[in-house]
Amino acid sequence: CIDIAKLPKETGCFTYDPGFGATASCKSAITYIDGDAGVLLYRGYPIEQLAEKSNFLEVAYLLMNGELPTSGEFARFEHEVTHHSMMHEAFRTFLYGFRHDAHPMAMMTGMLGSLSAFYHNSLNIEDPEQRRLAAIRLIAKMPTIAAACHRYSIGWPIRYPRNNLEYTTRFLHMMNEVPSEPLELNPVAAKAMDLLFILHADHEQNASTSTVRLVGSTGANPYVSVAAGVAALWGPAHGGANEAVLKMLAEIGRPENVQSAVDKAKDKESGFRLMGFGHRVYKNFDPRAKIIRAMTHKVLGELGVNDPLLEVALKLEEAALKDDYFVQRKLYPNVDFYSGIIYKALGIPVEMFTVMFAIARTAGWVSHWLEQQNDPENRIGRPRQIYTGAATRDFVGIGAR
Ligand code: ACO
Repeated sequence: CIDIAKLPKETGCFTYDPGFGATASCKSAITYIDGDAGVLLYRGYPIEQLAEKSNFLEVAYLLMNGELPTSGEFARFEHEVTHHSMMHEAFRTFLYGFRHDAHPMAMMTGMLGSLSAFYHNSLNIEDPEQRRLAAIRLIAKMPTIAAACHRYSIGWPIRYPRNNLEYTTRFLHMMNEVPSEPLELNPVAAKAMDLLFILHADHEQNASTSTVRLVGSTGANPYVSVAAGVAALWGPAHGGANEAVLKMLAEIGRPENVQSAVDKAKDKESGFRLMGFGHRVYKNFDPRAKIIRAMTHKVLGELGVNDPLLEVALKLEEAALKDDYFVQRKLYPNVDFYSGIIYKALGIPVEMFTVMFAIARTAGWVSHWLEQQNDPENRIGRPRQIYTGAATRDFVGIGAR
C-alpha cells in the first residue's frame, strides 16, 4: 500500500488502464455513485428525492453551488438564467450556414463552440465572476440553441425564448409545432421533461464530463470545453444511446422478435449490442432507469399515448434479465433504455434525443468546469501511453525504398 501524499508527482509507477476503469482523474465533491448498491447522489442528495421534490433549475443551482438555494437565491438564479436565454442575433446567420438536414448534434457542437466568438468577456477565466456568468450563459442558452437547431432542420422559423415561462416550459414552447399559448402547454409534458433533465444532469466522470475537464485543464474557455463535451456525448456508447435504443426497438418491431435480438446481442460476431443495456459503473441497477421505468407508464397513460414500442421494451428487459449472458455480465437497463420512449411520447423527434441529454448535462459540465478552475491541484490532463511501434531505425531516401 503506497502513501500517495509522500509520492512525487511523477512516481515512476506506470499504469495501463484502457478506458480508465480504475483511474481517478480528479477529486470532486459534486456527484457520488455506488455502482454496486445502485446509489446516485448529487451533492449528497439521493436522486430519488431530487426527482420527486425538486426541479431541474434548482438541481442545476445545487450542482453549481454545492447547496440547495433559499427561495431568494433561487429567484435570483432563475431571473439570471431567464435573462441570458436569448441568442445573439448573428447566431442565425451562423445556423443557416449548416445544411438543412444536418444532424442537430452536429449543429450543436458547432454552435456551442462558437459562443466563445460572441462572449469575449467570459474568455477571461481568471475572473471568478466571468466564470460564473459563462456557466449561467451555457445553462440558459442551451435550450434556445437546441430548439433553433431543431426548427432550422425542419424549416420552421426560430422562436424566441419567453421570459414569462419557466425553464423547461420555455424550451417546450420554443420546440412546439403549434403556436400555442403557455396555458395550453401540457403540464404533464413539462413535468416529465423536467424530471428527465434532473436524472441526466450529472454523472461524475463519464466520457463527456471527463472530456470537458480534459479540455478545461488546458485553460481553454468554457464554451469550447462544453462543445467538446457535446461531441463526446454524441457517440452511441454514451448519450447517443437514447437515439440508438429507439431505432433498435423500432427495428425489433414486435414482442415476438425480442428473443432473436437477445440472441444476436450475445453473439460477439454480430457486432450488435442491446442498446440501453450495461454501464461501466452500475453493476447492479441504474437508479435513474428505475425512476424512468416507473415514469414511462405514468406519462404515457396521462398523455393518452399507446406506444407499441413500450411493450417491446418491457419484453426485451424481461428476456435479457432472465438470460445468463446478461446476468453474468451484470448488464441491466441504463438511464437511456426508457428515456427515448418518453421523449417520443412528448413529440420530440428521435434525432433530438441526444440533444435533450446535452441540455440537461450542461448543468453537470459547467459545475465540473467551475470546480476544476477552483482546484489548486488542477494540472493539464496528459495521459501517457505504451508505445508499440518500430524501434529506432535509419531514414531511407524515397528513391532507395
Ligand atoms: N449488449 C451485449 N453485450 C454487452 C453489452 C450490451 N449492451 N454491454 C456490454 N456487453 C458485454 C461486452 O461484450 C463484454 O462481454 P465480454 O466480457 O464477454 O467481452 C461485457 O459485457 C463487458 O462490456 P464492456 O464493453 O467491457 O463494458 P464497458 O464498461 O466498457 O462498456 C457500455 C459499458 C459502453 C455502456 C456498454 O455496456 C455498452 O456498449 N452498452 C450499450 C450502449 C449504451 O447503452 N450506452 C449508454 C451508457 S449510459 C450513458 O452513457 C448515459
